[in-house]
Amino acid sequence: MAGNNNESVMEKLVSLCKRRGFLFQSSEIYGGLNSCWDYGPLGVELKNNIKSFWWRRMTLEREDVEGLDASILMHPKVWEASGHVSEFTDPLVDCKSCKQRFRADEIDGPACPACGKETLTKARRFNLMFKTHMGPVEDEASLVFLRPETAQGIYVNFANVQTAMRRKVPFGIAQIGKAFRNEITPGNFIFRTREFEQMEMQFFVKPGTDDEWFGKWKEERMQFYLDLGLAGDKLRFHEHGPKELAHYARAAFDIEYRFPFGWQELEGIHNRTDFDLVRHNEYSGKTNLSYFDEQTGERFVPYVIETSAGCDRTLLTCLVDAYDEEEERVVLRLSPRIAPVKAGVFPLVKKEGMVAAARDIYERLKKRFKVFYDHGGSIGRRYRRQDEAGTPLGITTDGQTLEDNTVTVRERDSMEQHRVKLDEVCDWVGRYLEG
Ligand code: GAP
Repeated sequence: MAGNNNESVMEKLVSLCKRRGFLFQSSEIYGGLNSCWDYGPLGVELKNNIKSFWWRRMTLEREDVEGLDASILMHPKVWEASGHVSEFTDPLVDCKSCKQRFRADEIDGPACPACGKETLTKARRFNLMFKTHMGPVEDEASLVFLRPETAQGIYVNFANVQTAMRRKVPFGIAQIGKAFRNEITPGNFIFRTREFEQMEMQFFVKPGTDDEWFGKWKEERMQFYLDLGLAGDKLRFHEHGPKELAHYARAAFDIEYRFPFGWQELEGIHNRTDFDLVRHNEYSGKTNLSYFDEQTGERFVPYVIETSAGCDRTLLTCLVDAYDEEEERVVLRLSPRIAPVKAGVFPLVKKEGMVAAARDIYERLKKRFKVFYDHGGSIGRRYRRQDEAGTPLGITTDGQTLEDNTVTVRERDSMEQHRVKLDEVCDWVGRYLEG
């Protein structure tokens, strides 16, 4: 039986991620740094594939969304205007006995969840933004924040993008980038960390058309996760009640996934109204974050529909969803479009003709796809290793290759084998990956 039944799925996944080079604990040789993770060779490929799929879907395939890459450090007034300095807080309680810290909203009753003693302090507000200083002098004037969301870089560039690209409302601006939050209780592997990457898009619309666009983006974004290959019955919408709404949102839906640790948010879709643009106009003393409609002669501040996804969280979801154990093997059934390696290329045995033919195929394939060549050990073990890494195809040269120039192509999920002409392998793989 593959895997150990006493371990939870999450434990098995964490161990697979390390074994196969997806994720390593940050600074592991020093004992690690809480909630920080490094993406290994397969992890970085998977992450890049998820980002490119999002970028393709949100910008290249659309006529109404532009891209942006704003800096992480921004003028500190940005975060006053956005409300993050005053509002971006969690209620924190300390246990005076065991010194552990908790989010007050995660505690049930007067006792400490760790030691059971009733020695919890009163809740106090804790701001989640990381602070640092610009330049050599560490005083108030040099204080800057690591951005807690990428969205603000888009808002302050609204007029720049609109003018430079001669855009008419409605249009959107998309961005992928790091965000930082000093979370009180990070955890569940890469689900909640203090440094993470967001894939955000802000869509600027005429007030009054916001509900319609909100509905459209909700559907678009759910389809994205279905197209990533996630199981439809593990996805749902969750509407925020009045108490859950962030300080900037008038309406919000989360797309949630059923993780082994329960239903959790994957992405937030928010109607942020004109909150952010109005505040930036006010705090900057300028009024250029508005739009002049040439057709109607009206000037207005656009409303914003935001789609905000976590890249690391999407990656974790893809791994959880793809993990499967069979009698003889562990297999990651990742969608071929995001699989880190698209095909393993193997000579059946290490014989000269088979090795040369396999190397020839590898050289041709690597110009178009991320592929992997391996001639060590039994073919069964080489297949199993690639199954665990989520590689959708295995291409093997054998005795027959030397006679008729054909190879075996094995599919990861069904383990079905096809005989394909050597000259046609590249196109066969291309067609397979396009689905
Ligand atoms: N701009 C809106 C915004 O940031 P959010 O709901 O706070 O909204 C959006 O975050 C997404 O970012 C979440 O759905 C999640 O995927 C990801 N995210 C937020 N905090 C995270 C954390 N501490 N670790 C990993 N991902 C996180």
